[in-house]
Amino acid sequence: FYTATFALPYLRQTQGNIINVASLVASIGQKHAAPYVATKGAIVSMTKAMAVDESRYNVRVNCISPGNVMTPLWEELAGQTPDALATIKEGENAQALCRRFLQPLSSSFGSSRFASSSFKAADLTVEKSHDPKPKPDPSTLVFGKQFSDHMLTIHWSEKGGWEAPQIKPFQNLSLHPATSALHYSVQLFEGMKAFRGADNHIRLFRPMLNMERMYRSADRCCLPAFDKQELLECIKKLIEVDQEWVPYSSNASLYIRPTYIGMEPSLGVSRSGQALLFVIVGPVGPYFATGTFNPVSLLADPRYVRACRGGVGAYKMGGNYGPTIAIQTEALRQGCQQVLWLYGEDEEITEVGTMNLFIYWTTEKGERELVTPPLDGIILPGVTRQSLLDLAREWGEFKVTERTVVMKEFLEALKAGRVREVFGAGTACVVCPVGSLLYKGQVLHYLINCPEVLHKFNLYSMLSFDSKLY
Ligand SMILES: Cc1ncc(COP(=O)(O)O)c(C=O)c1O
Repeated sequence: FYTATFALPYLRQTQGNIINVASLVASIGQKHAAPYVATKGAIVSMTKAMAVDESRYNVRVNCISPGNVMTPLWEELAGQTPDALATIKEGENAQALCRRFLQPLSSSFGSSRFASSSFKAADLTVEKSHDPKPKPDPSTLVFGKQFSDHMLTIHWSEKGGWEAPQIKPFQNLSLHPATSALHYSVQLFEGMKAFRGADNHIRLFRPMLNMERMYRSADRCCLPAFDKQELLECIKKLIEVDQEWVPYSSNASLYIRPTYIGMEPSLGVSRSGQALLFVIVGPVGPYFATGTFNPVSLLADPRYVRACRGGVGAYKMGGNYGPTIAIQTEALRQGCQQVLWLYGEDEEITEVGTMNLFIYWTTEKGERELVTPPLDGIILPGVTRQSLLDLAREWGEFKVTERTVVMKEFLEALKAGRVREVFGAGTACVVCPVGSLLYKGQVLHYLINCPEVLHKFNLYSMLSFDSKLY
């Protein structure tokens, strides 16, 4: 276990998203029943502890011992036990026993509803639109304004469970005026893209990471769990039906917006007894009007926060975004394009607009370092963030660090001329350079004419991952 503890960060970087923990404990055999049970129990609890820790990195820990192969992601593992909450507790306790003091995974809020009761892609029905719309010219696309001809809907109710998924003509939803999503933001979403390659194949970029994040957000919203693979299959089918909507252009893509809402038709602040998972898609061009590689300017005002510790900033819930619009408007009013979100008395640098933030600089010790804030509960675990970290670690050209950076440290580095590049990273824009910052009435420039790391990321990010062909 301790060897594994030291090896895990290395394994994560080099071996991808699955770690197998093998035990030979069964070779002790039944004749030494007491040591067998004790050792087996210890290995199972240690594996659970690792599964809890590693699930935050989207790593699946498999416990493999002779005659027994388990392939859990943590919540699935817990869901297979009679008392899911007790199992999670046991896992968390095992962490403490094994002196693994990472922030424990939050208890599974929606734990009574597990993947075994998920909808199935095999039950999907397709009703084609009789009135297809003309496809827009890719060069005129504006982010999020055009939608394809079809949508995916999947209804759930406490009484009836999941209904069969449906692909049907794009249409308005009919909602009860008391719908919980409208009153209490029982709502979450995802953002992902499909690209048409030069070979005319359509690819999704690491879609399972979005499914995992959506699953975690659903749990935090007390909405019923689902099988991530089944949802992905339904989404692939939707893209297949609307494949002509995937732009024939290297500058544009099909944006995919899975959305999950509480449909409880009553005003009590309580768990939704009805829910709707739907997916809409539409062609998009560059996210920023200035074009992908024009640097953006940021407003950093410590009076405003995007998320707070103990809150839900790490989940992709609509409630995190609505309140930012006023601050974004304020940024525009002050001549900036985006908000740099600071947090706490130390003014921790957290995220930029709806992107994760990266700083590439020379440290005080003279080392080149790429640094991004850690996933400590106030940062959205971005798929692009994870991908850039994976790439940079694979290159091994500079130090790659996930740690907190405070404004004071950043300003000192800026003054000393050590800041080389600052950029945001997210699905909408991939990587977006930051050119200047408005902080306490002062405009600070750190535009680098030729941002090498950012360009290298942009070049590699789409090519290097095994994007799935549907
Ligand atoms: C607040 C926030 N941070 C970061 C990101 C980037 O995440 P991803 O790379 O998965 O798109 C997003 C994406 O929409 C976001 O809303």
